[in-house]
Amino acid sequence: MESNSQYARMDYWDERFKTEKNFEWLSGLEAFEHIITPLISKDSRIAHIGCGSSQVSMQLWNLGFKNITNVDYSQVLIENGKLEHPYMEWVTDDITTLANCESSSFDVVFEKATIEAILVTEKSAWEPSDEALRNLENIFSSICRVLKADGMFISVSFTQPHFRIPALLREKNWSVEMFEFGETFHYYVYVCKKGKDLDTELRDRYSSIAKSWLRPL
Ligand SMILES: C[S@@+](CC[C@H](N)C(=O)[O-])C[C@H]1O[C@@H](n2cnc3c(N)ncnc32)[C@H](O)[C@@H]1O
Repeated sequence: MESNSQYARMDYWDERFKTEKNFEWLSGLEAFEHIITPLISKDSRIAHIGCGSSQVSMQLWNLGFKNITNVDYSQVLIENGKLEHPYMEWVTDDITTLANCESSSFDVVFEKATIEAILVTEKSAWEPSDEALRNLENIFSSICRVLKADGMFISVSFTQPHFRIPALLREKNWSVEMFEFGETFHYYVYVCKKGKDLDTELRDRYSSIAKSWLRPL
């Protein structure tokens, strides 16, 4: 029987991308375009990390954002992308290190549903494991490293703010804001601006609810 834990395995994604050409997790750009496009300028260098077979990069391209790098750890997906969309950059990389991405090189790092895939084996949303916290610290510090000094991380997620905001607060080098979209099922857009001061009201509110996401390792 299939289980969600497969989403944390590279071999699962490699196999899936042998045939899958287009699948959108959570939501297509049209539902959150009004939130993210005003934040990005047309000449921004954008990395879509854990891009999978999402069409968000192609949709952004069609809106005039022409400097897009797609990053995923599935070599199968990246080779397909290079063949089908050679006008964008394609990089095989693990988002817990981003070792193949240059430091201070992106204005925007975008992710959708990939942090969820990495955390899928967690047993409790209230008590994250050490491994989850270590992965998050590695992901966030890698993103900060590849962002330019005034760069921005945009994360589209179904994880509710009382769980995701304290996790994002583990990274001290950015501010955190949250937007919501969706009608029946609600999704969140988390926007983290490198080098900007954190809103103290937000920090106080979200440091006390699910505070295990902030516990030191
Ligand atoms: C749930 S899908 C999301 C795909 C796309 N962002 C979307 O919203 O449709 C997760 C994607 O992240 C990739 N992925 C999972 N763990 C990764 C990691 N550690 N580093 C890079 N990519 C990863 C998978 O190969 C897959 O393409």
